[in-house]
Amino acid sequence: MIPNRWYPILESQKLKRRPVGLTRLGERLVVWRDQAGTAQALPAVCPHRGADLATGCIKNGEITCPYHGFQFKGDGTCTHVPCSGAESKIPHGLHMQPYRIEEAHGLVWLWWGDAANETPVPFFEEVGSDLRCSSEASYILPYHYSRMVETNLDIHHTPFVHGSVIPVGQRVSNFSARLEGDRIYTQGELTRDGKTEGMAFRADMIFPCLGLIELATKFWIVVSATPVDDTHSWMWFRYYQGRTNIPLLRKFIPWFSVLTELRLVQPQDWRLFEGFEPGSVDDVTYHLVEADQGIALYRGRRRQLLSQPNLAEAS
Ligand code: FES
Ligand SMILES: [Fe+2]
Repeated sequence: MIPNRWYPILESQKLKRRPVGLTRLGERLVVWRDQAGTAQALPAVCPHRGADLATGCIKNGEITCPYHGFQFKGDGTCTHVPCSGAESKIPHGLHMQPYRIEEAHGLVWLWWGDAANETPVPFFEEVGSDLRCSSEASYILPYHYSRMVETNLDIHHTPFVHGSVIPVGQRVSNFSARLEGDRIYTQGELTRDGKTEGMAFRADMIFPCLGLIELATKFWIVVSATPVDDTHSWMWFRYYQGRTNIPLLRKFIPWFSVLTELRLVQPQDWRLFEGFEPGSVDDVTYHLVEADQGIALYRGRRRQLLSQPNLAEAS
């Protein structure tokens, strides 16, 4: 994985009173809320005899293993071994290393890297923080996340794959792409003939896996293609609209957009993805064209970040 970056791993609203088991970045985790409501995450495999902690329960804000009742705090400390009695000393090997997680922008994020290098959680500030104007969904797809990040930067497939739902021209005009630090900016227009007015678009991304698509002014889709493992991605997307403040429409527009995406638009992509290799884009030689400049920038920056020293398990 690209190190020293924040990865979104779960919608905040899905983290309630029960522990949630997840596989992200090749690791199995259990995530839950402690008594203060703060999100906590530990490896899901119990260090005693390997039961899945995500099938346990929460007692006093601590995760309790369903197999023999051992209990763990969010910082990984094992606090209770029922079979040994309250007075017994807890063996060091039962303490776990916690994951560094944070909640921001309605998502739970995992820091993958050294604590000393930690940075603020990145986001697309232009969409604002009013989640009342948004709606979201997520699912897992059987492809490496790098392929899915690239699909989020690819707008010129729209007339071919989604033409029945989004009838736009095939010609990309006024296209530009640039990289600034960890963010790629692309914008352009899909027109019928390259001259008359078409549909303006923006497709940006922030490393390692966050994307932003703007297809109409103040109408955004924020997406994440988070690695699950080497051949699967957690695909999350959230529609935001900043066009109306009429209470009923404020929520209805993004909700209806998510429904349309899930029922009509994304299945068109899924059918197409069936021809994809499941692995990463790193070992393939595809021939990109000018309208793919955002993808080319992604590959270049990705190579750079993965070739940093001390990176044995890059993927
Ligand atoms: S396996 Fe978890 S307490 Fe025994
Ligand atoms: Fe698509």
